[in-house]
Amino acid sequence: MIQKITQAELDRQQEYVRAFPSLPDRPMTYHIVTYGCQMNVHDSEKLAGILESMGMTAAPTREEADFVLHNTCCIRDNAERKALGNVTWLKEIKKVRPSLLIGVCGCMVQEEGMAEKILRQYPFIDLAFGTGNIHCLPELLYKAAERKGRVVDVPEEQSTLAEGLPVRRGSPWQAYVTIMYGCNNFCTYCIVPHVRGRERSREAKDILRDVEELVKSGTKEIMLLGQNVNSYGKELEGDWNFARLLREVAKTGIPRIRFMTSHPKDLTDELIETIAETPSVQRHFHLPAQSGNDRILRAMNRHYDRAQYLDRVHALRKFVPDIGLTTDLIVGFPGETEAEFMDTMDLVEEVGYDSAFTFIYSPRVGTPAASLPDQIPPEVSTERIERLIKAQDRHTEKCLHSLIGSVQDVLVTETSRRDETMMTGKCGRNISINFTGTKEDLGRILPVRVLSAGRTTLRGEKCLEENKDE
Ligand code: 5AD
Ligand code: SF4
Repeated sequence: MIQKITQAELDRQQEYVRAFPSLPDRPMTYHIVTYGCQMNVHDSEKLAGILESMGMTAAPTREEADFVLHNTCCIRDNAERKALGNVTWLKEIKKVRPSLLIGVCGCMVQEEGMAEKILRQYPFIDLAFGTGNIHCLPELLYKAAERKGRVVDVPEEQSTLAEGLPVRRGSPWQAYVTIMYGCNNFCTYCIVPHVRGRERSREAKDILRDVEELVKSGTKEIMLLGQNVNSYGKELEGDWNFARLLREVAKTGIPRIRFMTSHPKDLTDELIETIAETPSVQRHFHLPAQSGNDRILRAMNRHYDRAQYLDRVHALRKFVPDIGLTTDLIVGFPGETEAEFMDTMDLVEEVGYDSAFTFIYSPRVGTPAASLPDQIPPEVSTERIERLIKAQDRHTEKCLHSLIGSVQDVLVTETSRRDETMMTGKCGRNISINFTGTKEDLGRILPVRVLSAGRTTLRGEKCLEENKDE
């Protein structure tokens, strides 16, 4: 049963917000360090929103903060090691400044037995909580600040969903909007369903209210977030699915819509047709393949084979010819033979992705694949991923060169750090384009003609046509 966090519980948290003390001479400061995916980045925006509602202000670095919070990721071993290494580093700051409060939260803390392990190994951590109880931060931090002992809250049951939390957004023009939490797919290599719980879709009216507010405040682009957005709405009342949600979101007038992540098994023709008919949905589709080999796909529990994956690719390209495809690929899944790996290499050649995220399989305790025989030695996986990256690099180069001469609508989001006259933004296909401009261009959607291609980015010039969004 999915339960919205009740207003009574949110009100109870508000009492801690009000009671939270500031320091005698100034407000307390915080610094959040985020690891992992966009979901975590957005969780950190909510954590920051809550902390600011408690009267805290952001500190630019960890060294200057009264409270440092590490929002962790556990998708692969290196993500975990990075998070823990940096937490260890905080111990030195705490020696000099014992008043420093240190917290860890997120996916890693939610792993079975991990909270106990972290607290045992890192006695200087004051506060630990999981992924499903972000809304409890006021109470948890209040208790940690009392310094009566360490505060730990990692609920086992992940069936709740909180609405109405404050958010401190990282950008005035781009915003993340979560449409669903959790994942039901249990790919055999993946820890996510174990730490983020079962799929819970937000009600469409709550999502649409958020988007409408963002439109009013001048946001130009939203990214709809979910572990598997294509199965949006399955447990909701009424006839909701992701295609219908996209159509409703488009009606709010938000200029650009993106979404992440899609599962090929749930990619319907209706969704593809909706994308084709909705110009505000950007021409980029991230479609994780994971492998190009049928036996490996079965062992991964992906619920599609290579032919079915390619069928979705062809359908996307048929209905939306200018769409750019990207993917996730894993090499070195247990038992992967050279021939099976070559099927993944071959998939890269056959599809011609704009770009790909490539990963070496990392065994995650508690997932079925971790106990499979024939784990692949690291040197074999490393050699395979190098070949895969090289193959994909050629396609990325080809893709970038194919755009030379075209005019792309770019949402301008950054000024180059080295050169104030160089502006950067992404085109519909999610590729960065640099061009000469001014600070006034920031936050605008401008037509840019592509002049040349680098290794991963494009270079262009502003077209003299009228600005599109004015
Ligand atoms: N090892 C390597 N890569 C993984 N991913 C998920 N779990 C693992 C793992 N155990 C990759 C998948 C997924 C992306 C977010 O991370 O490719 O799509
Ligand atoms: Fe992990 Fe698979 Fe769910 Fe993606 S769909 S989060 S890879 S279990």
